[in-house]
Amino acid sequence: MLQRFASDLSRQDFLACGVELASVLGMDRDAAGERIDAWPDDVERFVASIDNPVLLTDAWRLAELAPRLRDTVFKLLESPVRTTEFRGVRLTFEQARWPGVWGPNIDTLLCCRALGDHGVDGVESAVELGSGSGFISKFLLTHAPKLRAMTLVDRHAGAAACSRANVPDARAEVICGDATTALAGRRFDLVVTNPPYIPRPRSIADNAYEGVDLLAFLTQQGADMLTPGGRIVTITSSLSAHLFEPMVAKSSLRARTLSTTDVPLKVLNVLNNAEWLDYLRKARGVRCEVRDGYELWHEIRVVALEACATL
Ligand SMILES: C[S@@+](CC[C@H](N)C(=O)[O-])C[C@H]1O[C@@H](n2cnc3c(N)ncnc32)[C@H](O)[C@@H]1O
Repeated sequence: MLQRFASDLSRQDFLACGVELASVLGMDRDAAGERIDAWPDDVERFVASIDNPVLLTDAWRLAELAPRLRDTVFKLLESPVRTTEFRGVRLTFEQARWPGVWGPNIDTLLCCRALGDHGVDGVESAVELGSGSGFISKFLLTHAPKLRAMTLVDRHAGAAACSRANVPDARAEVICGDATTALAGRRFDLVVTNPPYIPRPRSIADNAYEGVDLLAFLTQQGADMLTPGGRIVTITSSLSAHLFEPMVAKSSLRARTLSTTDVPLKVLNVLNNAEWLDYLRKARGVRCEVRDGYELWHEIRVVALEACATL
């Protein structure tokens, strides 16, 4: 299954490819009438699209498609392998092969869109903290014309291995380690991250979405990782704004919002945990609003953090 996004993220197309063409789209005979079990992987057929996606798998929006298209897309979503394409960058991710690794998500694409729209032309060295599947780094390697060295760091061993497999580029260096300690003394033109941002009392470090430790590190020590004129680009959320904003105010950095997008809160581990959800509701970062198939929303911001003197 291939999901392809418009350059401004105004549209998400679902395409069938490879074996799905025969098994789902019925393309199971060649011109001579001979049976075809699987087409080459690069043969694709458009199936359906949705406008202005706010999730990568939006069951509500997909359920509104005409029945045949709805069922076809849901069938394609059962595929263990999913390819995501945005602005010419393609990454194939198989969750079963990389258990516990965070595949490309709406935040990932929002981060890439902001990087592309706000200029990476002068960037020669970059690091991605918490690289997961490696999509953002792959995007930078494709879109930053002067990029000579791209460092990817993830403390999850599987994520580091996944990044290594997905970014086979001589300019890329993958480090398995904690970004708060693994890069001591190194400086970069660009530090980019889509970090965990869902706060939780006594948060556990091994969830890709839980806690704000990396955001705290960035505000406290991020300036020391930057070359003169360098900047940090990070994803944040209204869920942790009450923690993040005071941290920025105390830092030597100033925040500039590059984009904001309302998205549903769809982390089931949070939604099904009454205590955690109650904590998020009290912190006010989650908006209770029944619309478009979801009842809890938060705002994702892509933020540039720059040394005060740079502004
Ligand atoms: C939300 S996922 C983002 C993955 C990927 N960058 C993306 O946008 O698709 C956050 C990633 O950060 C990693 N991570 C969290 N804290 C970290 C730390 N202190 N050092 C290194 N990696 C960290 C997690 O293992 C996870 O892979």
